[in-house]
Amino acid sequence: MFRGARSTQCDRNYGDFFGLAGRVTNIGPVARMPNVYIETYGCQMNLADTELIRGHLSRSGYTSVQDPETADVILLNTCAIREHAEERIFGRLGALAKHKNKRPHVQIGLAGCMAQHFREDLLKKTPHLDFVTGPDAYRRLPDLLAGDPFVDVRLDKQEIYADVAPDRGEGVRAWITIMRGCDKFCTFCIVPFVRGRERSLPVDVVLDQVREAAAGGYPEVVFLGQTVNAYRDGDSDFGDLLRSTNAVEGIERIRFTSPHPSDMTESAIEAMASCEKVCPQLHLPVQSGSDEVLQRMERGYNTSEYLRLVDRLRAAVPGLALSTDMIVGFPGEQESDFERTLDLMRQVRYDNAFMFKYSSRSHTKAGDWDETVSEDEKGSRLQSMIGLQEEISAEINREEIGSEVDVLIEGPARRRDDWLAGKTGHFKTAVFPAQGSAVGAIARVRVVDSTGHTLICATDQ
Ligand code: SAH
Ligand code: SF4
Ligand code: F3S
Repeated sequence: MFRGARSTQCDRNYGDFFGLAGRVTNIGPVARMPNVYIETYGCQMNLADTELIRGHLSRSGYTSVQDPETADVILLNTCAIREHAEERIFGRLGALAKHKNKRPHVQIGLAGCMAQHFREDLLKKTPHLDFVTGPDAYRRLPDLLAGDPFVDVRLDKQEIYADVAPDRGEGVRAWITIMRGCDKFCTFCIVPFVRGRERSLPVDVVLDQVREAAAGGYPEVVFLGQTVNAYRDGDSDFGDLLRSTNAVEGIERIRFTSPHPSDMTESAIEAMASCEKVCPQLHLPVQSGSDEVLQRMERGYNTSEYLRLVDRLRAAVPGLALSTDMIVGFPGEQESDFERTLDLMRQVRYDNAFMFKYSSRSHTKAGDWDETVSEDEKGSRLQSMIGLQEEISAEINREEIGSEVDVLIEGPARRRDDWLAGKTGHFKTAVFPAQGSAVGAIARVRVVDSTGHTLICATDQ
């Protein structure tokens, strides 16, 4: 989930010369366009925001670079979901300060959720920080970079960046943010406070982006939103959007993340069942298997409702692969609550799970509650949970041995020379010996072995 990303450049005079709104920095005797380097933390939505920022800055004359050494602007697009995520970023900021020693014109800034979380305090706490820009303020970034140190963290109920074309990275998958913000206010979660209220992009804007992705050679689109299936534009709901996307030529696969169980309507389930391009894979975060904990989390469902939904989904989409998010050590979580969570995991048999220790967050309701589970206890619950999930994942993958899978090829396998890697429809990593297959093509291969994380495959030629 966490990735480093690329970046962007311009000299103000140069920018103006070309009719660009870029900044002017005195970077020495040689006039050139400034470079920007961006590192991205957090979820896919942040990754997609980095593509927006990069696209927006490049139209103002900035050039992306892959190395902070050559950057005039260093930007960290940050996450605030857990304290640990923020600590990492403070650490990284400290390490990046050295770039100003040799090149004092360099501007270092924070964007994203942590920027929105700490706002003005960040500039006070971190002397070498030049700017702080929240998730709804990227449009103003090129202008603001031209001036003094700044903080721009106005949340904007209208901001959907519909007209800001992203600068997509390489790869086979185009990320498309179809809605922003969240209205759910789960008691543990900072997202509604740092991302603001829920708002969707118009259907025609989304479909234009899908068509552009297809024309740009991306065979797969992934719709993104914190509650992606709450998507709505006038009379069109999320199911309608999936059906329209299914008809776009050139797109082979459609995925989305993260749907909220309470927003999983009949229309969305029907679309998953009837649209052949929608992959039989769903990330459906449950967080806990205890009704008491779910109630205190204010998730809006209990375990039997969640399990009924899983049954309906599996009936509609045979072979559906399921993944989830889990939190251990939420305030008040007893050993018996935790056992119920493990039971639910055994019952659902998720293909994969992202598991986290609870982290208290300011602004949230639970942030005001006493923590009742020690760090040690959280750690040991997390370890047992990971152990259980690894067993289940390995079992499910073993059951795949002998079957044929379609793999969308992404590139060379990491650990084996002359092997290719890609994802199956179930979003499992599959590797197989290279036989002239091209990146972006779909190869049908046979599973011959497996681990908890990978399907090892053979081609039948
Ligand atoms: N919108 C998604 C979740 C996005 S946040 C949903 O509702 O399903 C991604 C995951 O981070 C959450 O599903 C949750 O498991 C985890 N998370 C969020 N806040 C957390 C916190 N305070 N402590 C630990 N994990 C947290
Ligand atoms: Fe956070 Fe809940 Fe919104 Fe997900 S639905 S982003 S967990 S508040
Ligand atoms: Fe983190 Fe913000 Fe995503 S808090 S998980 S980067 S929406």
